[in-house]
Amino acid sequence: MTFKTRLLPGAVFFCDGGILELAGKHLVLGLTGGIACYKIAELTRLLIKAGATVQIVMTEAATQFITPVTMQALSGRPVYTSQWDARMPNNMPHIDLSREADVIVIAPASTDFIAKIAHGRCDDLLSTLVIARDCPLLVVPAMNRQMWQNPATQRNVAQIRADGVEVLGPDSGSQACGEVGDGRMIEPEAAFEAICAFFQPKIMRGQRVLITAGPTFEPLDPVRGITNRSSGKMGFALARAAAQAGADVHLVAGPVSLPTPWGVYREDVQTAQQMHDAVMAATPDADVFIAVAAVADWRVDHVSEHKIKKAAGQPLPAFNFVENPDILATVAKLSNPPYCVGFAAESGDLQLNGMEKRKRKGVPLLIGNIGQLTFGRDDNEVVLFDESGTTPLPRADKQELARTLIAEIAKRAPRTGGPLLS
Ligand code: C5P
Repeated sequence: MTFKTRLLPGAVFFCDGGILELAGKHLVLGLTGGIACYKIAELTRLLIKAGATVQIVMTEAATQFITPVTMQALSGRPVYTSQWDARMPNNMPHIDLSREADVIVIAPASTDFIAKIAHGRCDDLLSTLVIARDCPLLVVPAMNRQMWQNPATQRNVAQIRADGVEVLGPDSGSQACGEVGDGRMIEPEAAFEAICAFFQPKIMRGQRVLITAGPTFEPLDPVRGITNRSSGKMGFALARAAAQAGADVHLVAGPVSLPTPWGVYREDVQTAQQMHDAVMAATPDADVFIAVAAVADWRVDHVSEHKIKKAAGQPLPAFNFVENPDILATVAKLSNPPYCVGFAAESGDLQLNGMEKRKRKGVPLLIGNIGQLTFGRDDNEVVLFDESGTTPLPRADKQELARTLIAEIAKRAPRTGGPLLS
């Protein structure tokens, strides 16, 4: 299995967690000159929707691409563009604005502005604010591909990285100038996801996490099949939370239409056998395996090549079922298994069934829930079963619950990666 890097060009992003995940966070969002300024309108909207307060600061060049009025309307706060702004009582906007911030994000970051950061130059409000900061800095480059590839730009980017600045992107693709290549600003949804991830403690940094999610589909004929009501939401939320916690995540997904969480490597499968094969190929590289998928227990022994026809007077079709492999139990029985976490969707007596299932599957941690209270919903209520007993968790939004579960898993799984960072 190849655990991919966090920024996958062309990936689809999951940003509507349903929770105010940036509540209480204060960002300074700095715009510099570039056509990608139009993307910052959407980024600002996403940040505000997630509960953040956003202070917009623009360079003179940025105001040529999008107006301060637009940015003020979207952020709900006055926009700063000048070092000499008399609105700050002490006339020191470069100090006051950065002291309030949890993070400064420069998006889009032009070639020139990256050069300024690299060289510590400060000749306008935004560059002065950057050098006077006492908080982390995220930079989202956007420029023509030749400007990006220029050795001077590459030197400057390497320098700001070495200085501890996080650089997000750029993406590859068609550019406003008509050329194609590296340098496009990542999409606003990706920038939003990266900002959300920035605020999460990196409790799984260096861990490689394999997750199954969704239902499986067992065909009867070319058009019909057997599936179940799993939406995949819990597995996808766990994949997102693990990636935000710094893990390299490989998600094996049954047939669901959910977008891929940011930075997650996704492999789509249909049947239990395909899911089994994908998992077995990926397991040797995994430190943690979280089996969230609702895998069909049976499949028909013979899939009809043609659509089974309904004909008057004919007997009803009959099917012989064979058992599907138990993916979780198979992985747990390997001689050197990853840390295995199972899920159990029961219809009743969770306590008894959860403990019994944990033993039967041979896993150190089993997460139990009541199927009819979770399938398709945005929230869930679970009980943890491990060697020390049971721990019920309160009902919560699946994304919030996923963060709690990743923290519980990180506490229990043996660490194989680098040092813990927050
Ligand atoms: O036996 P049951 O289906 O209730 O077990 C649920 C747990 O086992 C889940 O973690 C599920 O992903 C996993 N499972 C599996 N392969 C199967 C059936 C279940 O990995 N064939």
